[in-house]
Amino acid sequence: MSERPDLPIALVIGGGGMGMSTARRLGQSHRIVLASLSADKNPAREAVLREDGIDATVTQCDITDPKSVAELATFVAGQGTLRTLAHVAALSPSVGDWRTLLTVNLIGATHIERMGLELATQSTAAIFVSSLAAHRSDRPTDEIIDVLNDPLAPDFFDRLESLIPEKQPVQAYRLSKFAINRMCRRRATEWGAKRARIVSMSPGLIASPMGAREFSGQSGDLKLELLRNTPLGREGTMIETADAIEFLASDRASFISGTDLLVDGGTLSAVRGG
Ligand SMILES: NC(=O)c1ccc[n+]([C@@H]2O[C@H](COP(=O)([O-])OP(=O)(O)OC[C@H]3O[C@@H](n4cnc5c(N)ncnc54)[C@H](OP(=O)(O)O)[C@@H]3O)[C@@H](O)[C@H]2O)c1
Repeated sequence: MSERPDLPIALVIGGGGMGMSTARRLGQSHRIVLASLSADKNPAREAVLREDGIDATVTQCDITDPKSVAELATFVAGQGTLRTLAHVAALSPSVGDWRTLLTVNLIGATHIERMGLELATQSTAAIFVSSLAAHRSDRPTDEIIDVLNDPLAPDFFDRLESLIPEKQPVQAYRLSKFAINRMCRRRATEWGAKRARIVSMSPGLIASPMGAREFSGQSGDLKLELLRNTPLGREGTMIETADAIEFLASDRASFISGTDLLVDGGTLSAVRGG
């Protein structure tokens, strides 16, 4: 009953809290292909989306594995025209070490960006979910940025670790998100050559399973301080981030590319003091 061959494809990467809310929202105007790591969770994800009347297929993909990403690209190409790519998957600092975080959050996102560009046609929009964390850290040195510019280089970790010996997960998270925002700015010209767009969207504190995990983890006090400083006085919701992604994917955002949309209830402006 939910088959919608008339609709273009939205590929959503990541079946967690925000990934599912994004799929629900984009599913109003797209056929959904949702790709996520845990094959055992995917049938239930497909079932709930279909119960909502969404034409959804949920498939397994490990974004850190180029072969798995290539298989996903073949699958999506066989489904129809890619109108929207929403890359949502990432690990938070409390669930991974330095290398794992950079591998999933940055190397994985880069594989998806390369794949998305291959599938993109005129009017395709790619949205990469980043984080307020990308904006909060001090700007890395030019040497570090030079390494972050090419996360698929074989000596990526050797070079990065020679510049950053501390290797803390929080630092890996911030660097990965800084690099994703930068990737979206730097790659806009390649996407533009296809008349396609690429943007990042940086959520602040969001009430989600990931957000709750971080409140009870090592950075809990820091998060509480940020919440106290948030002008809107609350966390955002996954509906609000899905709304932002839907807007960025839509024709109403047709001249927006190579930039970031901060969705943080004003937190950054408040902590920076203007
Ligand atoms: N929640 C917040 O407060 C907050 C704030 C700022 C930014 N963000 C950003 O928002 C995004 C999503 O957050 P969320 O709340 O949806 O997180 P989440 O519920 O933890 O979901 C993350 C998803 O990433 C998927 N994933 C992990 N490794 C993967 C891999 N190697 N290949 C494919 N998929 C993989 C997981 O897949 P499986 O479940 O299939 O294993 C999981 O579904 C992230 O980019 C995060 O950094 C969140």
